[in-house]
Amino acid sequence: MARIPMIAGNWKMNRTVGEAASLVKELLPRIQGVGGVEVVVCPPATALHVVQGALGGSDVALGAQDMFWADWGAFTGLLGPPMLLDVGCRYVIIGHSERRGRFGKPDESLKPEAARVFGDTDASVNLKVKAALRHGLVPIMCVGEMLPEREDGRTDEVVSGQIRAGLADVSPEAVAGIVLAYEPVWAIGTGMACDTLEANRVTAVIRKTVRDTFGADAAEGVRIQYGGSVTDQNAHDLISQPEIDGALVGGASLDACRFAQIIQVASVIAKNTRKS
Ligand code: PGA
Repeated sequence: MARIPMIAGNWKMNRTVGEAASLVKELLPRIQGVGGVEVVVCPPATALHVVQGALGGSDVALGAQDMFWADWGAFTGLLGPPMLLDVGCRYVIIGHSERRGRFGKPDESLKPEAARVFGDTDASVNLKVKAALRHGLVPIMCVGEMLPEREDGRTDEVVSGQIRAGLADVSPEAVAGIVLAYEPVWAIGTGMACDTLEANRVTAVIRKTVRDTFGADAAEGVRIQYGGSVTDQNAHDLISQPEIDGALVGGASLDACRFAQIIQVASVIAKNTRKS
């Protein structure tokens, strides 16, 4: 069966509640009738509820940017899976490099501090993935190498290790239904997207890791997005790669026009090619 490409917008720590609702209202008419592609928006937690309302009866799904693995309890500042379900989330991004404390722009003074604060590890990513699945949320699990790891020739080893550890103890059936995102850390927010053939190659490495660990059905079912400086300009080249099933978009998802163009590009590619 063909995999349906997914375009997800990660708004990160941007937009007030009012701005978030406006962004959705600008986006929806621009993608009306666009088919063959699944669209997800991941606003900040404060805007989840209002964005869900603004999405109304549209096909655009709601996603959160992170969550804790416990259901409820004394965990100041955190959100658990039942809370995300309560506001209508279907997806949750897990293990984004900015949560793992792996950053592509070391010059930003806040980021080394944040690295110590957030500190997601492969082990915590695995707990979050399993908690999401227990509750029927679909994880979008991010993996990707940092620049020194790439320069040392360790890209394949790093992403494979993240896949195996992040998905430990997950059933092959569940793996087939989740979403993975290959996000080379050095490409995130830098304007330097990964070369398309290289992005496709690493995505194939990820799929092979899934096949070797969970079997052919899981590998054929799992959707693997590319993320890292995706724009309306480079989306076609990236998304048309045979292994790449859509994009996780940061900066460009904050602009309704550009995000809609990326969605339209994915829709055209989906109609012209059958990936399975
Ligand atoms: P970017 O972010 O598109 O702004 O590079 C992508 C991401 O972090 O998912």
